Amino acid sequence: MMYMIEAIIRPEKLQEAKGVLDDAGFHGLTVTKVRGRGRQKGIKLQWRAGEYSVDLIEKIKLEIVVKADEVDRVVDLICGAVGTDNVGDGKIFIHELSDVVRIRTKEHGIKAI
Ligand SMILES: Nc1ncnc2c1ncn2[C@@H]1O[C@H](COP(=O)(O)OP(=O)(O)OP(=O)(O)O)[C@@H](O)[C@H]1O
Ligand SMILES: [Mg+2]
Repeated sequence: MMYMIEAIIRPEKLQEAKGVLDDAGFHGLTVTKVRGRGRQKGIKLQWRAGEYSVDLIEKIKLEIVVKADEVDRVVDLICGAVGTDNVGDGKIFIHELSDVVRIRTKEHGIKAI
């Protein structure tokens, strides 16, 4: 069984996350710039004219496909690398993945990760 780990993290934590994953042997990943909000519904900022709110905050989405027995390790690595104990640290979604194909070789499944 394979899983897609989808982590929404702070942009400034991307290098840190990539570094720990690389050191642990997880090299393949996809990175996307995204915008989102969590339960604080964005942030309020003070400005001369008063307060205004930004409801969608820039985040980075990391996608990493791993084997079932690697999920906990990767989740721990990401949490350790990107956590600051503040709101907005992000969230990790874990999806079961039905298949992967390496286009060059047509390999499927775990062989293709
Ligand atoms: N329920 C959700 N569904 C989809 N995406 C979400 C959800 N909650 C958070 N996200 C994504 O994760 C990003 C970071 O969320 P955030 O860390 O603020 O979550 P939170 O639940 O508000 O936790 P915290 O209280 O620690 O801030 C959001 O900008 C958004 O992209
Ligand atoms: Mg939040």
